[in-house]
Amino acid sequence: MNPDIKNIIENDAHIQKVMFTYDQINHKTIELACDIARSFPIDKPIVAICVLKGAVPFYSLLCQKLSEKGFQVDFEFVRIRSYIGTDSSGTVEIRLDREMDIDDKNVLIVEDIVDTGATLEKLKRFLNEKHSPNDIKICTLLDKPSRRLKDTKIDFIGFEIPDEFVIGFGMDCDQKYRALPFIAIYKQ
Ligand code: IMP
Repeated sequence: MNPDIKNIIENDAHIQKVMFTYDQINHKTIELACDIARSFPIDKPIVAICVLKGAVPFYSLLCQKLSEKGFQVDFEFVRIRSYIGTDSSGTVEIRLDREMDIDDKNVLIVEDIVDTGATLEKLKRFLNEKHSPNDIKICTLLDKPSRRLKDTKIDFIGFEIPDEFVIGFGMDCDQKYRALPFIAIYKQ
């Protein structure tokens, strides 16, 4: 293991265990990009919607891999808040910094982790009510199926994980740990 990363892990009491290294995430992202590439037409742009803030590292990696496959990938961002600390606040708030141009477009929502499914259900409903996209597909890096309350279809899933609170690679606990280049289990 990279000595800097070993140092981070050994000196932070909240990092219980590394779940996925950067290399594992990178390989999985390549596989996901192959699956996504097979399900969208190459001659049409994909509007990739990044669910801020958690999806940022995965989003940028995935968009690069799709671009390598020859797709035009257009960026859009949406801000959604539903968690406080390690507990869901139960409400999902959607904020856009500008109107999205997704009418008649092929849309890929990119999420870091799906837990209850409430965030994605609300976002998909919101996009379908406000706009007329040609197609909306959802890709998440992590999925916690045991916590699901809404049965929104997730088209592309990186890793299924058990019911653990995880941090790193975009995911936070009270805004900390997002920039870690790996995913770890959080210890209270
Ligand atoms: P859902 O609406 O319950 O599916 O929650 C999805 C959102 O909750 C994700 O976009 C994350 O921001 C957050 N979340 C869920 N589980 C975790 C976790 O284990 N670590 C960090 N954030 C999480």
